[in-house]
Amino acid sequence: MSLSAHLETGILEWLRNNKLAVSGGPWVKVCQDERFGHFQTNVAMVAGKMLKKNPRAVAEELRQKFVADVHLAKVDIAGPGFVNFTFTPAALARSLSMLRQDPHLGVAQTPVVRRVVIDFSAPNVAKEMHVGHIRSTVLGETLTRLLAAQGHQVIRDNHLGDWGTQFGKIILGYKRAGQPSLTMDGAVAEMERLYQETHRACEADPALLEAARLELVKLQQGDAENVALWKKFRELSQAAFDQVYERLGVKFDRTLAESFYNPWLNEVVDDLLAKGIAREDKGAVVVYFDDAELKDHPFLIRKSDGASLYATTDLATIRYRVAEFKADALVYVTDGRQQLHFKQLFAAARRWGYTAQEFEHVWFGAITGSDHKPLKTRDGTSVKLRGLLDEAESRAAGILRGKRADIDEDKLREIARVIGLGALKYADLAQNRNLDYVFDWERMLAFDGNTAPYLLNAYVRTRSILRKAGTLSAAAGEFELREQVEQDLARRLLAFGDAVQTAAREYRPHHVCNYLFETAALFHRFFEHCPVLKAESEGLKNSRLQLCQLTGDVLKRGLYLLGLETVEEM
Ligand code: ARG
Repeated sequence: MSLSAHLETGILEWLRNNKLAVSGGPWVKVCQDERFGHFQTNVAMVAGKMLKKNPRAVAEELRQKFVADVHLAKVDIAGPGFVNFTFTPAALARSLSMLRQDPHLGVAQTPVVRRVVIDFSAPNVAKEMHVGHIRSTVLGETLTRLLAAQGHQVIRDNHLGDWGTQFGKIILGYKRAGQPSLTMDGAVAEMERLYQETHRACEADPALLEAARLELVKLQQGDAENVALWKKFRELSQAAFDQVYERLGVKFDRTLAESFYNPWLNEVVDDLLAKGIAREDKGAVVVYFDDAELKDHPFLIRKSDGASLYATTDLATIRYRVAEFKADALVYVTDGRQQLHFKQLFAAARRWGYTAQEFEHVWFGAITGSDHKPLKTRDGTSVKLRGLLDEAESRAAGILRGKRADIDEDKLREIARVIGLGALKYADLAQNRNLDYVFDWERMLAFDGNTAPYLLNAYVRTRSILRKAGTLSAAAGEFELREQVEQDLARRLLAFGDAVQTAAREYRPHHVCNYLFETAALFHRFFEHCPVLKAESEGLKNSRLQLCQLTGDVLKRGLYLLGLETVEEM
């Protein structure tokens, strides 16, 4: 059990024994200021308020419960009724030994396993993935790993945008261009170009617009030629997406694109009509809401010409995910501009009867240039993801070449791949996702600061000291936490599980980033203060080697959860 969990259990027991039905928690927090102690709780103040008793008196009662605890060096009352706890070095050492043996490294396994469907990435077919897609892709993969680490069952579903009016224009453009052969390389760029060209031509010429509409109608009615073209576009796009996913180390359990749900769309609308959740309005079908926030935002699910929409597909998707995947939670990772859509969708779904499920829209801000405007290339188009990945790798290689003249080119490129892609992902994840973030190569590739290179470097350091000691796995022995910095590092390592839990609960991986950054910084401090190989005794040397190893394990696991690979040297 982690140190905070030990205290939390004690507090819950105390609440129970005193029949205090105080709701809330977790009650134990890490002390912001270490001088006060390791952990702190305000539960006495909450209970005091409830009982109309002096909170400091309640705090004293709580303190009495813990004074005899052998793991604690100090239990103090502070301010209006905070209780601060300080563990003994021996308690830290014992917990650390337990952590060493825990395959989950302190990440608590959930008592209630949930089935969570995570809908992420979901680019649109016949368009290149651009810089915006990196956020959904990277965040989604990370959330999957965080939830799986707690023991949840996670299903990654790529809801590709493969249906919509754009196909009328793409098909028309392709036919007008004489159906050029599309090779894998550059196929998607070509489709995107054809679309844009036709889109512009349609704006100038109503006859063309009508022709595009007819191509779309033919596709929708199952015309063999158009369906074959659409399938070809989809396959080529999928192949291009897969290359990006492969490079990013992202996997999906399912790829059920929008068109997959076409057979059920009418049925869904009819069902909502029959249940009185949706109603007809000037030939269209709409879901109206009563509550203040959505009252002025009806949800359109069938247009007056009978066409279905993105919204209709999303409703059908919910029904499918609950019926087929037995989803307890449905998580969607998209940019913040879709907030209203998901509010409407979730509200409609609840009325439709999905009240037992958790719905979560995990939204993120934009990636901007240094001018705080959405990132664009010099000619004003969106930045393509593929090019970004290439640039990340080549920039990292450039930096490495300057630092390491001794390693051969192949190895250097492999290390650069891990650092470059890691830096790109990490820069994205390290920010609170709701904020816009400024894309800055120099900063994300810097070897100091809260960056991937900094963390990878700390990991490499833990490995190189073990190699120097002639082992890659320190002998399991007792921990001897002699110096303050060793105790600080120990407490940090013991808090890994808490960081993962917070990040998973809030769907905010940056908590793990902050945690790893602090851990790496503490490790460097430890390393400067405490001789490892030249420690005074064999026992102390082994304890310090174990600290190096455990730090390395935690960094590696944390980076893995963020979707980053590690290297053994750099
Ligand atoms: N294809 C959409 C886009 O690129 C994202 C889809 C998100 N998922 C969903 N179920 N609506 O904006």
